[in-house]
Amino acid sequence: MEYKELYRLADKAKKNAYVPFSHFQVGAALLTADGQVFTGVNIENSSFGATICAERTAFVKAISEGQLRFTAIAVASSGGEALPCGICRQFMYEFCPNLDVITGEDENSLRMRTLEQLLPEGFRLEKE
Ligand code: THU
Repeated sequence: MEYKELYRLADKAKKNAYVPFSHFQVGAALLTADGQVFTGVNIENSSFGATICAERTAFVKAISEGQLRFTAIAVASSGGEALPCGICRQFMYEFCPNLDVITGEDENSLRMRTLEQLLPEGFRLEKE
């Protein structure tokens, strides 16, 4: 799938964001190695720390459906280019340090960075 199309899916997903506090909608579209797409949105909470970002929502949906191999994630927001936060970078690093991360203000100004660029020398325990 083209990254522009993946970004479009992220952009479309963001309408379901639950954002009564920030009003900042974020949508993510996660592409699996076998070509499936799982979308996610940010879901805020009255206890602010319980908020989950769109990127982690997409990962949680995919992993709970049995997916563990990923190629790319696109992120779109209602407020310009949104880069994954530090918690999401670490969360995603667990599964795919070489993930392509697609961001941009709109589909015509996309930027691709690898997760390793966004989180150099990230932390991961040896898997048993
Ligand atoms: N947020 C995301 O969902 N993803 C990002 O990449 C940046 C931040 C959310 C969390 C919160 O609901 C809102 O954006 C403002 O921080």
